[in-house]
Amino acid sequence: MLLSCVLGIFLLPEIPVIGNGGVGDAADFTNVVTDSKASVETNIDTVQRLIPDPPWDLRFLLVRPESFAALGSAQFDVESKPFNLVLSSDDAKVDGQTLSACHTGAAIEQLCLSGGGSVSSPNPLAPATFRFNSSANTVSPGPAPGAPGVLSYQLPATPPIPSALHFFYDPITNFALPLLQPGYSGQTLSFDAEERLGVQGYVNYKTSPPTSGQTSTYYRWFACFTYFSGYQYQSLVWALGDGAEPETPDCAAVNVTRVFI
Ligand SMILES: *[C@@H]1O[C@H](CO)[C@@H](O)[C@H](O)[C@H]1NC(C)=O
Ligand SMILES: *[C@@H]1O[C@H](CO)[C@@H](O)[C@H](O)[C@H]1NC(C)=O
Repeated sequence: MLLSCVLGIFLLPEIPVIGNGGVGDAADFTNVVTDSKASVETNIDTVQRLIPDPPWDLRFLLVRPESFAALGSAQFDVESKPFNLVLSSDDAKVDGQTLSACHTGAAIEQLCLSGGGSVSSPNPLAPATFRFNSSANTVSPGPAPGAPGVLSYQLPATPPIPSALHFFYDPITNFALPLLQPGYSGQTLSFDAEERLGVQGYVNYKTSPPTSGQTSTYYRWFACFTYFSGYQYQSLVWALGDGAEPETPDCAAVNVTRVFI
């Protein structure tokens, strides 16, 4: 019953593109072309909204490896060299750790700390290899250091599954959980001149009404013990709002820096 209901969604010819992250999402940029790939992503997002908990495996019905070829050209098609992501923090247990990709659902991974020590990842892991896809054509809403783009990852499989970083929002808490998910679109991010990962925004929410103006880069990363879909890791999270610290105790503020391999 649930299954047929979800499958029904896939058969809808058009679902409006709502985006999955609001400000900072790729849809904010003026040159985004809505193509078949976008509606696939939108269907995924719709499923995600309807079924926030398992069975997320249903998403696999939609994103089969053989369908990737049909998804069309990527919107962010300028690919960086491969790199690892390294944390720096005042917390000595977190400082210097790299990020790994930790299984948290069918073809979904959290950005867990490589050192292990969590319920679902007790042992050290190899750091994950990431790439950053930006675009020569993207018109960002204003000047800002660092071209916007998407963090991409090849999930080991036969063939490998192209994945990108999304922000997952649970409305009852005050942070977003970055997740790697199949597909080519995701949260728009940037690297600055010091190779620090951030999120750019151009709306000032501290005025009423909010005003738009200069694009700024924000750095609101924390390492927290997380729960998602039955998995418990120590992972990278994004605090929501100025000065916010995730409500989960014992999170460590971190900077996330890329180190090319
Ligand atoms: C990144 O760019 C490369 C080269 O254009 C492309 O093959 C790949 O699919 C892109 N990945 C994403 C996530 O857009
Ligand atoms: C991140 O880097 C900035 C700039 O170097 C620094 O001011 C800030 O204290 C750092 N934050 C953490 C958590 O290390």
